[in-house]
Amino acid sequence: MSPKISSFQPFKLATFLLILFLFGVASAQLCPDFYAKTCPGALPAIEMVVRAAVAKEARMGASLLRLQFHDCFVDGCDGSVLLDDTPKMKGEKTAKPNKGSLRGFDVIDRIKAEVEKICPGVVSCADIITIAARDSVVALGGPYWTVLLGRRDSKTANFSGANSDIPAPTLNLTNFTTSFAKKGLSVSDLVTLYGAHTVGQARCTNFRNRIYNETNIDPFYARALRANCPVNGGDNNLAPLDTATPTIFDNHFYVDLIVKKGLLHSDQQFFNGGITDSQIKAYSVNPIAFTEEFGKAMIKMANISPLTGTKGQIRLNCRKAN
Ligand code: HEM
Ligand SMILES: *[C@@H]1O[C@H](CO)[C@@H](O)[C@H](O)[C@H]1NC(C)=O
Ligand SMILES: *[C@@H]1O[C@H](CO)[C@@H](O)[C@H](O)[C@H]1NC(C)=O
Ligand SMILES: *[C@@H]1O[C@H](CO)[C@@H](O)[C@H](O)[C@H]1NC(C)=O
Ligand SMILES: *[C@@H]1O[C@H](CO)[C@@H](O)[C@H](O)[C@H]1NC(C)=O
Repeated sequence: MSPKISSFQPFKLATFLLILFLFGVASAQLCPDFYAKTCPGALPAIEMVVRAAVAKEARMGASLLRLQFHDCFVDGCDGSVLLDDTPKMKGEKTAKPNKGSLRGFDVIDRIKAEVEKICPGVVSCADIITIAARDSVVALGGPYWTVLLGRRDSKTANFSGANSDIPAPTLNLTNFTTSFAKKGLSVSDLVTLYGAHTVGQARCTNFRNRIYNETNIDPFYARALRANCPVNGGDNNLAPLDTATPTIFDNHFYVDLIVKKGLLHSDQQFFNGGITDSQIKAYSVNPIAFTEEFGKAMIKMANISPLTGTKGQIRLNCRKAN
């Protein structure tokens, strides 16, 4: 036995332990099998509630998908969007982009109740949103992707953050690229994620100016929409974001943009002579490219600043901190 080699071994061991330590502490990473041992029944239970909710009302799939966006863009994917107001804390639900608009909170409550029955205090509300968003897309005929899990829940919400970080539909493309870049998402990610508008509805108040005043809109489409969205009143009257298949997760939203049938000002921004036109054209003729990239982009969005390790908490009730 060579003394040279044995003298190296304590060093090797120390290095090995240091590497292990650094991996464990420095990067508490999300992973697909986070609940495999602690709550194997969670994912099937969540899927069942989502399937039932979407079967009852297809639009709910769209509403649950949108929740992921509005959660992740405000202090990261931490379930903050689900917190109700308290005397001490103004929640995000009454912020401009959410008030009278964001839906699905009751479904999240039902999911949480089911999951708490199986394994109390284990599955975070932030992860429930992520799983429900994916299951919603699948229930609406869209792609499946493997979600990464292990997020923990915030103890507070951020009302002003919801107003500043979720972009308004009245803005233009440069504003959207800026706000997505702030969250580490590229222009290409933005175009792909925005394809979520292939499902769901918008309120008259959000497209009134577009159908009466804008010129980059198909005139027959605009006229037809005016019937249910008068100049005065009817603020909450709904119209589909995708003109043909608003309950099917397909690429038809992009087809609409090509023929100037974007419902929202923000929708048409993506096909308006700018740098995103080419990607819109590509998706409008290639549904597979869109659906494959959508899952990847959702994983990226769901990775925005999660709370992991010992940060935050596992809320017992998604509407309030423990
Ligand atoms: C620049 C970015 C975005 C803007 C300005 C925007 C704006 C809007 C607006 C104004 C509505 C209609 C709300 C209402 O009238 O009540 C809406 C609906 C919706 N948004 Fe977005 N959105 C954006 C990005 C996204 C992203 C990234 C997703 C998901 C990945 C998403 C998913 C949805 C869905 C599914 C609906 C329909 C919800 C329902 O029917 O309940 N949006 N969006
Ligand atoms: C709320 O969001 C804003 C905008 O992103 C951010 O600057 C601020 O630090 C957040 N506040 C808290 C308490 O997290
Ligand atoms: C952005 O919108 C404003 C008004 O809403 C307009 O004046 C400006 O030209 C737009 N910029 C681009 C790059 O489209
Ligand atoms: C949107 O972008 C324009 C420039 O195109 C800028 O002047 C404006 O401040 C931005 N608005 C918001 C709310 O970010
Ligand atoms: C059309 O634009 C004008 C000028 O910006 C505005 O005052 C008016 O309210 C708009 N009309 C509708 C129906 O939104």
